Amino acid sequence: MSVKKRMRTAMGLAAAGMLAIGLAACSTGDSDANSGGDAGEVTTVGFVAVGPEGAWREANERNIQDTFTKDAGFDLKYAPATNLDQKSQIDAFTSFVDAGVDVILLSATEASGWEDSLKRAQEAEIPVILLDRGIEPNDDSLYVTRIAPDNVEVAKEVGTWAAATFPEGGNYVVLEGPAGVGVVNERNKGFDEGLGDSSLTKVDAQTANWSAEEGKSVFETMLKANSNNIQFVFAQNDEMGLGAAQAAEEAGLVIGTDVKIATIDGTKNAMQALADGQLSYVHEYNPLFGETALDVVKKTLAGESVESYIIVPSKAFDSAEAAKAVLADRKY
Ligand code: AHR
Repeated sequence: MSVKKRMRTAMGLAAAGMLAIGLAACSTGDSDANSGGDAGEVTTVGFVAVGPEGAWREANERNIQDTFTKDAGFDLKYAPATNLDQKSQIDAFTSFVDAGVDVILLSATEASGWEDSLKRAQEAEIPVILLDRGIEPNDDSLYVTRIAPDNVEVAKEVGTWAAATFPEGGNYVVLEGPAGVGVVNERNKGFDEGLGDSSLTKVDAQTANWSAEEGKSVFETMLKANSNNIQFVFAQNDEMGLGAAQAAEEAGLVIGTDVKIATIDGTKNAMQALADGQLSYVHEYNPLFGETALDVVKKTLAGESVESYIIVPSKAFDSAEAAKAVLADRKY
């Protein structure tokens, strides 16, 4: 640790103490909140997280906290956003820089608006690792790496499946995540690439904010506006797809016959719905990359270089049988 950083650490730990009081859900990755231990032996990690958002996020952030434990030599300070608000994330990020943590993990609620924070961390010689979400504009000199499944490739596989499933075309809609979230643009890009010159026609695209309730209400409106003449739904996450399935059934449509629904994430509820015929295709967006993140942190702090984008493998499931084959062992 450089003298500059050590000095800042001594000054910043008081700020970290205030941070621990100020951040409602701030907690370390282990049961002992005062797990400072010998600073020489424990790596302090500031995790600027999204917080409650759905099953995928819960699985991902639980996995990170279960990986960066005291037994593994870490003091993880978990700082979830307040109501998905980016300002609360930037405040937590700033407090971690001031506290002189050894490394920052960032899952950004918004893609843009991170340059100043990332530059401050760089000046403080604190490496930043992006988890899941990218930043826009993407300046990979400002962070060590991004660890995530490849959204463009995942969505491209959904588009390719849709084009093959509807050789005669048909009407489709897209249920998107919130505007401004980086993965939304990546998924739209990949899906369109996968569709290629398909005769499928997009009749609507709206955000349903990753929510099952909104997915249901938005798709209800879409069905009414199109006299139920929609044959395919691309839902950018499981919850919105499950909501659309409810709306389809309440409109008297048979899923798999009248309308097909494809989603991204691969959480248990969606895999069960696929097995039960309430969804048609589910592409995993594997959230369980805590061990990869831990390996990257260790390499980074040891001065070793890592790839600027570390892709987490994720599988596609295109039938009830495929879902049934994995349900029993599903970890999220
Ligand atoms: O960034 C990943 C997305 O965020 C997941 O697909 C979605 O479920 C989560 O809310």
